[in-house]
Amino acid sequence: MKIAIGCDHGGIELKLEIVKHLEERGFEIVDFGIKEYKSVNYPEIALPLAKAVANKECERGILVCGTGIGMSMAANKVKGIRAAVCSDHFSAKYTRLHNDANILCLGGRVIGPGVANEMVDLFIDTEYEGGRHATRVQMITDIENGNM
Ligand code: RB5
Repeated sequence: MKIAIGCDHGGIELKLEIVKHLEERGFEIVDFGIKEYKSVNYPEIALPLAKAVANKECERGILVCGTGIGMSMAANKVKGIRAAVCSDHFSAKYTRLHNDANILCLGGRVIGPGVANEMVDLFIDTEYEGGRHATRVQMITDIENGNM
């Protein structure tokens, strides 16, 4: 699985920990930056990463900013993206099972690397359940396409 990752200055330290963890697990990482601390505008990182996930160049994405919120707001403007901000294990698992989320957004100023890496594992390893949830996820797509 090819995983896209990106961050702003609020998420750089946590992102580097996640990259290390994912590399140890053997995943192919596409890093949309930043690679070291510098002040950047999070939509400029979120947009190219979200496009790469939407067009299936990468199967999943992880975006880290101070809270995870700005990254999720920007990523969710791209058609086909279902980005979820999570701070707990249960949400990271269920946003895959029920929402078929394709981007996980994390707050580098909210959670530490131990919790974050376990959430990343759940997000990557959990398959979408489909079934009754497919109707609801389709409705999100319908809203996106102006069909609802
Ligand atoms: C940057 O200071 C901060 O605003 C950003 O990382 C993020 O938390 C926005 O949602």
